[in-house]
Amino acid sequence: MSVPADTSLHGLWSKRTAFMFAAVGSAVGLGNIWKFPYMTGESGGGAFVLIYLLCVIFIGLPVMMAEITLGQRGRHSPVQTMRRLATEDGNSQGWQIIGWMGMLAGVMILSFYVVIAGWTVAYLIDSVRGVFDGFDAAAASAHWEALVGSPQRLILWHTVMTVLTAWVIMRGVNRGIEHATTILMPSLFALLLLLVGYAALYGEFLQGLRYLFVFDFSQINPDVTLKAMGQAFFSLSVGMGAIMVYGAYLPRKFSIPEAATVVVSADMMVALLMGVALFPIVFASGFEPSADPGLIFQALVLAFDQMPGGWLIGTLFFALTMIAAWTSAISLLEPIVSWMVDSRNMRRCSATALCAAIVWVAGLGTVFSFNIASGPEWQLYGKNFFHWMDYLASNIMLPVGGILISLYAGWMVRREVMQAQINIDHTTVFYGWLWLIRVVVPLSIFLVLLRGLGIL
Ligand code: PFF
Repeated sequence: MSVPADTSLHGLWSKRTAFMFAAVGSAVGLGNIWKFPYMTGESGGGAFVLIYLLCVIFIGLPVMMAEITLGQRGRHSPVQTMRRLATEDGNSQGWQIIGWMGMLAGVMILSFYVVIAGWTVAYLIDSVRGVFDGFDAAAASAHWEALVGSPQRLILWHTVMTVLTAWVIMRGVNRGIEHATTILMPSLFALLLLLVGYAALYGEFLQGLRYLFVFDFSQINPDVTLKAMGQAFFSLSVGMGAIMVYGAYLPRKFSIPEAATVVVSADMMVALLMGVALFPIVFASGFEPSADPGLIFQALVLAFDQMPGGWLIGTLFFALTMIAAWTSAISLLEPIVSWMVDSRNMRRCSATALCAAIVWVAGLGTVFSFNIASGPEWQLYGKNFFHWMDYLASNIMLPVGGILISLYAGWMVRREVMQAQINIDHTTVFYGWLWLIRVVVPLSIFLVLLRGLGIL
């Protein structure tokens, strides 16, 4: 389908803030609220946080700038964008792999993402209904076990989240994504501030801060480093084309470095604020932070119940998490839907319905990983279906996508073309970015991957 120059078939963001809300909405999600605290718990606190922050600033930010720039130039879904750029730049069509792998990673991540997001809906509703009143630790665990032990309940909530996500995507870029994120993101930030204020008043604030910011370097090993890097990619939504497709809808007049810096700072701030807000609450409730993905739910229910006004705060917290998950899920679905519309000439509605159905079916694998397929006979090298999906997509595919994106942006596009598109006036800053993306980023991702996988 042909598109007039410098616009996209799907439309463009109507305002700068629309892109910001959508991109921050994509970045801020379960990765910040649910995964970051439990991975920090699993990997021993401050040392993990430090590597994560370094990866965010020196790898995530430059890759995000590259991704937005490529998307803005290509103006299509990631596959079509890479195809168009490869043609214009005289490069191999093989670079479309960035788009293909990204779409696959998107479907894989979304398939478990909607299930976890479903937990937040279940907890939100139970919290509103006052189910958690008078809960003790045993009741909190029993409640959790009852939820994940029931495939029917998990399927119900994962269906709800899949439908909500598909509904926004069906409505398109402006009436759907832009509209939804412009309402949801400010609400999310308001709720977050309330929660942090509350944690400061009632939680073990200092203990939480100490946990996050005391660096114990003996905890750093190749595996922790790989996880921290995977977490940085996951949390920023980079490496799979989600940010690229949002960049495709970005009008030329907006500054890419500025946009990327705002998105990265907002994401980092939310992860840290969540850590600062959650760890004190978790410590105050007597739980130990650890590796269990369900711990945060159990600890919080208990903690909220023991606190003044806890019912309201708990309800707000689950609402916040659900909103954050929803706006991220939207961005995981857009690359593949836009590809079907761009290259298969499908209507947005049918493309969305088809993709949502694929995601829903794949999501059953994660649903069953917590109940009927949770036993060791269902595991491969100690990981169940859900763990494999997460590990392969977040720790392998996103970083590999990051390497390819940076190599393409750094070496395969003429320097002047890149400089004009990314629009960095300051030559030193541009060269700083260029050499990060040419050498530092791909090399460090490569080394961390090899060490983390035990190859080096
Ligand atoms: N960044 C999201 C989070 O932190 O929860 C997850 C995510 C969204 C990852 C979009 C990748 C992506 F393309």
